[in-house]
Amino acid sequence: MLPGPAARLTPPGGDTQNPDDRDSEASPPILHSTPPLPTEMTNRAPADPSNGYEAIAGDFMSIRSDSATGADTVRAWARALPRGGAVLDLGCGHGVPISKTLIEAGLSVHGIDASSRLIAAFRARVPDATAARTTVEDMELPGGSFDGAVAWGLMFLLAPETQAMLIRKVAATLKPGGRFLFTAPRQACAWRDSLTGQTSVSLGAGAYRELLEAEGFVLAGETEDEGQNHYYFATLPDREDDKPTIITVPDAVQAS
Ligand SMILES: C[S@@+](CC[C@H](N)C(=O)[O-])C[C@H]1O[C@@H](n2cnc3c(N)ncnc32)[C@H](O)[C@@H]1O
Repeated sequence: MLPGPAARLTPPGGDTQNPDDRDSEASPPILHSTPPLPTEMTNRAPADPSNGYEAIAGDFMSIRSDSATGADTVRAWARALPRGGAVLDLGCGHGVPISKTLIEAGLSVHGIDASSRLIAAFRARVPDATAARTTVEDMELPGGSFDGAVAWGLMFLLAPETQAMLIRKVAATLKPGGRFLFTAPRQACAWRDSLTGQTSVSLGAGAYRELLEAEGFVLAGETEDEGQNHYYFATLPDREDDKPTIITVPDAVQAS
C-alpha cells in the first residue's frame, strides 16, 4: 500500500501535495509523491532547519487548513491520555488539525516547529497552546515530564540518524506510561516531497520497532487513516516491571 500513491489525502489537504492534483476532484492530492527514490538519494538543504517548509509555508497552510486528515486518529489516541495531560506536538506546523484536536480533547499542548512562519500561525490559531520555534535537533526538553508526544508528518523529513535521536529524546521526556504517536510509511523507502522537493525517508516498521524498543518503548499498534498515512503507537511501561498498556485506537492493527 505504501509509500507514494498510497499516501494520499482525501479530501484535499495534508502536509504535501502534488501540485498537478490540486484542482482535481477525481484524483485526490498526493501526500508524498511517487515513485520511491533510492535511499541513498539526498538533497537536503542543511541551511534550512525546517526541511523546506519555511519556504512553502503559505502553500502548505492553505492545503492543510482544509484537511482533517489525522484528526480522528489523534482524537482516539488522546482518549488514553490523562485528562489535562501534557502533550508535545513535534513539527506542529500551524496546528491545524492536530494541535487543535488535542486542545479540544482537554489536553495541554506544547508545539515545536522549525519554521518561523508556521509557528507564528500556530500561535494565532491555537492560542491555548504554548509553542517554540526550534528544531527537534536543538530542542531541550525536561526529563519525564510529558504524558504524550505526537509527530504527524515529521519523522520522515529527518535524516535517519536524526530520526533515531528524536525517538531517544521523546523517550527521555515522557513520563512512565507515556505514549508516542508518529507517522511514517510502513515500508522502508525514500521519495521526493512534492511541495518542498526535498527527500523524505521512512526507515520502515521493522527499523522503527527496533529503535523504539532500544529506548524502552513497546510498539503497541499501527494503523492507517483515510489518507493512507501510517501511524505507529508506542508506549513506555508504567514502571520497570510493568507490561505496557495496549492502545485502544479503533481499527488499529495490534503489533505482534
Ligand atoms: C508535513 S508538515 C506537518 C505539520 C503538522 N504536524 C500537520 O499535521 O499539519 C512537517 C512540519 O515539520 C516541521 N519541521 C521540519 N523539520 C523540522 C525539524 N527538524 N524540527 C522541527 N520541525 C521541523 C516543518 O516546518 C513542518 O511544519
